[in-house]
Order: sequence, then C-alpha cells, then structure tokens
Amino acid sequence: MQTFSVALGPASHPVHVGDALLDGLGELSRAAGIRPGPVALVTDSNVARHYSARAASALEKGGFVPKLMVVPAGEASKSSAVLQDLYDHMIGAEIDRGGSILALGGGVVGDLGGFAAASYLRGIAVVQVPTTLVAQVDSSLGGKTGINHPRAKNLIGAFHQPSAIIADVGTLITLPEREFREGLAEAIKYGAIMDAAMLADLERDLDHILARDLGILEALVAKSLRLKAAVVTADEREAGLRKILNFGHTIGHALEASAGYGTYLHGEAVAIGMAAAATLSEKFGGLSTDEGSRLVRLLQRAGLPTEMPPKFRTPDFTAALRLDKKRLESGIEFVLLQRLGKAVTRRLDFEQIVAVFTN
Ligand SMILES: NC(=O)c1ccc[n+]([C@@H]2O[C@H](COP(=O)([O-])OP(=O)(O)OC[C@H]3O[C@@H](n4cnc5c(N)ncnc54)[C@H](O)[C@@H]3O)[C@@H](O)[C@H]2O)c1
Ligand SMILES: [Zn+2]
Repeated sequence: MQTFSVALGPASHPVHVGDALLDGLGELSRAAGIRPGPVALVTDSNVARHYSARAASALEKGGFVPKLMVVPAGEASKSSAVLQDLYDHMIGAEIDRGGSILALGGGVVGDLGGFAAASYLRGIAVVQVPTTLVAQVDSSLGGKTGINHPRAKNLIGAFHQPSAIIADVGTLITLPEREFREGLAEAIKYGAIMDAAMLADLERDLDHILARDLGILEALVAKSLRLKAAVVTADEREAGLRKILNFGHTIGHALEASAGYGTYLHGEAVAIGMAAAATLSEKFGGLSTDEGSRLVRLLQRAGLPTEMPPKFRTPDFTAALRLDKKRLESGIEFVLLQRLGKAVTRRLDFEQIVAVFTN
C-alpha cells in the first residue's frame, strides 16, 4: 500500500492506494477521523454486484452501521431525482451532522455521493472509494462534486474535499476493457503535462498495465494521484495552474458534444484531443515532432483513438469549440506542450486551430 497526504490546510486528507483495501475500509475510515455509527454506503448496480457485501462487512468490522443505497449504473444517476432519493435515504438512516457517506464506485457515484455530502446538513464527511481507473487516477481527488442538469453536464455542484481516498486497485480486475483503457488516457495525460519520467515508465510498463498487473497498477494510480494532488494543492479552486489538467480536453469536450454524448467515452475523446493538441504543440508550443509522435504512439498502444474523424473537420466543430467554457473572446486559452512533461497555456485564435484541422 502507498499512503500520502493531500495538503489542503484543514481539508487535508490521506490517500491510500493498494490491493485488497476494501477489506480495511472500516479501519482506514476510522483512522481518517470518521465517526463510527451509521454511514450511507452509496454505490451503483454494477459495483454492488461485485463489492458491496465486502465493503459493508469491512465497515461493520470498523464499528460502522452501513446503510446501503444502490443507484442505477450510468451517467443518468447524476440527476436531481437520484440526489433526492439519496437525501431521503440518509434521512431514513438517521445520518446526522457527524455522519458520513462512503462513495463506492466510479466517477458517477463519486460526484453524486460527494455532492450529497457537500449539501446534506450543510456538509458532512465523505470517503471516496473509487473503483474505475478514471476515478482512481482522476475524479476521486480534487474535491469537485456535482450532478448534471438537463441543459448541461456538471452544471450543479460544489467543491467538497473527501476525508479520505481509498483506492483498491484489485477492484480494477472486473472493470470492462473499454472503461479501463479510457482511464489510461487520463494517466497518460499526467505524464505528458508534468512528468516525462512517468511517460517513459508508461511506455515501458504498458503491456503489464494492460494485463492488469496489480503491483504496476498500484504504482500507476499512486503516481497519477500524487501528480494531481501537487496541482490541486497549488490551486484548489482552478484559478491558474489547475488549468493544465485540461490538456486534451478542449477538443475532447467539443468532440463529445458534436458527436453526441455516448459516441465516445470521455477518455477516448480526450485521447483524440491530446493527439490534436500535440499537433498544435508542434506548431505553437515548441514540442518536437518526435515527441509528438511518441505521445500519439503511446495512446495508440493503449488502444485509444487518436484520429480526428473527417466529419469533424468542419465549421460546425469549430463552433462547438467556441462554446467551450475556457473560451476567450476571439480565441481559446489552450493547453500545449513545450516538451513531453511540460505544459504551457497559450491563447490561440480560432483561425489558427481551424487551419491545422480543416485541411
Ligand atoms: N469530479 C471530478 O473531478 C471528475 C473528473 C473526471 C470525471 N468526472 C466524472 O466522472 C464520471 C465518469 O466516471 P467513470 O468513468 O468512472 O464512470 P462510471 O462511474 O459511470 O463507471 C463506468 C462504468 O463502470 C462500472 N464500474 C465501476 N467500477 C467497476 C468495477 N470495479 N468493476 C466493474 N464495473 C465497474 C460502472 O457501473 C459504470 O457502468 C462523469 O460523470 C464525469 O463527469 C469527475
Ligand atoms: Zn477528463
């Protein structure tokens, strides 16, 4: 097991990464200061099948009374209707101000459970127990929580730091292949923007990672979370540095929106976005073509798409880019690579972006 602390003053909290940590949930939660007693154990229908019994008995061993709530698997559970059900469940379970939520699942359960914890009784403790690679390398850390609005994703939300993050890499064994590879896109992102040595490790270890070697996955998840923690502690509310985490996401989000949600998984769209950003980086950021190719090759070896589909090389797509929330009036603040392991932000005009992708 690897353990480290995310240093955020009074919101500082531990991160544990290792195999079979589910069996220590009670103990680790107690050690993080969670009061024994009723705890809302929130999970989704897929994760429940595999892990809710184990999680519940580990909580009981630690002196907790787990009150299980299973939401339907899928993005649709980040809704006000499901949130309302969750509040009802917590009131029924007599969760009070000293009570807590344990969010066991992927980013959907983490965002939903985290937001319920942020808002219920003006805020109670949440322990994040991520079970997808996306959640283990990314969404469980940083304190962003929320639900979707019919008009837009993640429109309703709050910053609410967890009391602990407990990432059991053993749970990744049951994750479907496509969701697993999607998570690799976010891990590769950290290497690309912050750590050339991590990128080299990924190149060396990728076959073992794809075979889900738990020792290597533990190292990968811990490294990713340490890098994200370094960014988040420097910039908790996304005022500056945290923007580099959006590498590949400007084009990725536009692709997700114009292709229709569901065509690409988020990580797949981000992979295409990172490949496109590599091309832009070669033109405007200082990245060498060799380095750009290395990044694209790694994404491809991870089974991720890297080609911008021809139907997006159109004015419609650039319109979608304009709607991105990081837009500035006549251009976009774009995250580029100066070299592998070093991100910079540059303001690019739409014309400069369009010229690269519509020919
Ligand atoms: N808060 C943040 O900073 C942040 C960052 C990135 C993404 N997100 C959010 O995260 C969500 C996506 O998260 P996700 O990709 O984890 O999706 P998800 O939570 O929907 O999980 C993906 C699928 O895997 C299943 N699953 C989860 N763990 C499993 C396991 N161990 N074994 C078998 N199946 C398992 C789930 O039931 C689901 O069907 C989005 O809503 C996104 O907005 C939030
Ligand atoms: Zn992402």
